[in-house]
Amino acid sequence: MDGERTDEKITIEAKAVYSLTSKFEEVTAQVAVIGLGYVGLPLALVFARKGFRTTGFDIDAAKVEKLGRGESYIGHIPDAVVSEAVKKGNFQPTSDYARLRDMDAIIICVPTPLDEHRDPDLSYIRNTAEAVSAHLRPGQLIVLESTTYPGTTDEVVLPILEKSGLRCSPSAYATDGSVVKSSGTVGGDFLLAFSPEREDPGNKQFQTYQIPKVIGGVNGASAVAARALYDQVFERTLLVSSARAAEMTKLLENIYRCVNIALVNELKLLCLRMGIDIWEVIEAAKTKPFGFTAFYPGPGLGGHCIPIDPFYLTWKAREYEFPTRFIELAGEINSAMPEHVVASLADALNRRKQCLQEARILVLGVAYKKDIDDPRESPSLRIMELLRLRGARVDYHDPYFPRLPKTRRYDFRLASVELTAQTLAQFDAIVIATDHSSYDYAFIVRHARLVIDTRNATRQVTEFPEKIVRC
Ligand SMILES: NC(=O)c1ccc[n+]([C@@H]2O[C@H](COP(=O)([O-])OP(=O)(O)OC[C@H]3O[C@@H](n4cnc5c(N)ncnc54)[C@H](O)[C@@H]3O)[C@@H](O)[C@H]2O)c1
Repeated sequence: MDGERTDEKITIEAKAVYSLTSKFEEVTAQVAVIGLGYVGLPLALVFARKGFRTTGFDIDAAKVEKLGRGESYIGHIPDAVVSEAVKKGNFQPTSDYARLRDMDAIIICVPTPLDEHRDPDLSYIRNTAEAVSAHLRPGQLIVLESTTYPGTTDEVVLPILEKSGLRCSPSAYATDGSVVKSSGTVGGDFLLAFSPEREDPGNKQFQTYQIPKVIGGVNGASAVAARALYDQVFERTLLVSSARAAEMTKLLENIYRCVNIALVNELKLLCLRMGIDIWEVIEAAKTKPFGFTAFYPGPGLGGHCIPIDPFYLTWKAREYEFPTRFIELAGEINSAMPEHVVASLADALNRRKQCLQEARILVLGVAYKKDIDDPRESPSLRIMELLRLRGARVDYHDPYFPRLPKTRRYDFRLASVELTAQTLAQFDAIVIATDHSSYDYAFIVRHARLVIDTRNATRQVTEFPEKIVRC
């Protein structure tokens, strides 16, 4: 390609990117968020609050209907925030994919679980990409936010979108936004980027817009356009050199947490044998003003991210014949924690000349972490399963779950028991699996016969220390 022709193509591409970025800057763009879950809903509301006409797409008709009435279905997102956005006309939930054609930016926030062989299940991403492809038009920006292995945007999403006949070719822009004179065909019909979601549900310290947004384009024009979009609603954005680098960034963050949690879980087991309080040790280590970040032991990993995402990388690493040993070891240690809790409970009962068989056990907290209403991958559910397998009679209490929802793996068909002095006294043991702030731990210890504390939730309780087993 000669220089003149390249310049002409750069000009055409620059105009297309300029027209899109202007719409973002003027807040006249239409923004779509696909997947109105724990990640997609708060993100859609951030765009809506800024004044963007935001359309939320979801295949779950019940969620769409509820949100359309201005009601939130997620505990920590108030109804008022949803209803205000709906009333102003800035947030419209729908299941009608045909409306994707009207959108300028389409952000994908669908689930990325593991399948029954613990391999990545990309079916949600594939189905969504197929649906977008069917309605794709030139000039649109597509951003994938679902956590996934490096290469998903380039290798999985891009080919599906290009089935539309439209192209996202190499760009005349470098990924830092500067114009480069590349040879070959430049510019494309649509733009595609990856930007990892870093939502921490229930975190009151950081709102969605305050968490810096990492962005990587499959080409430079895509990076420029995606940054222009997120710059409107996030306090800080950061471009990395590729979609793969952005995908890997998110995995590094979650693997870092997974490995460090495994480290403290292992040290907890050693400390228990050595008669040292791991919680006291962590508090002391935390006082070092540099080089140490505190992680805490617990009953096992939970949630949609930490127990799952690292294994996306393990799977991809196999293609490169590379064993991810830290991830495997951390997985092994963390997933053994529910067994440790049950063994500690059995030992404590044994010391009282009781056994687990037929014992009545109350598990406190089924959410995977405190003060949220999300039970996904919760270690509480695994603990309940193990207890049942050992013949115990299990009940639970959780202020966020009047009934235990059916999950992909469990269906206990239980309702939350009332937390009164009488009911507490009826159980042979109480297991504190999730340390919700609303629990009165002194009251629980006072009326329980035995308390197995997996979260150091009873640290302030001074009465009846003989009833408490920290494990
Ligand atoms: N929950 C978190 O704390 C968190 C944090 C960071 C990243 N992530 C990542 O974000 C992604 C989404 O997670 P989430 O927690 O929001 O999941 P979620 O299950 O809460 O929500 C996903 C939503 O997508 C909808 N959906 C599924 N397929 C669809 C389709 N084809 N079209 C439209 N809607 C569809 C579902 O009905 C659901 O409402 C995952 O990749 C996850 O790993 C989650």
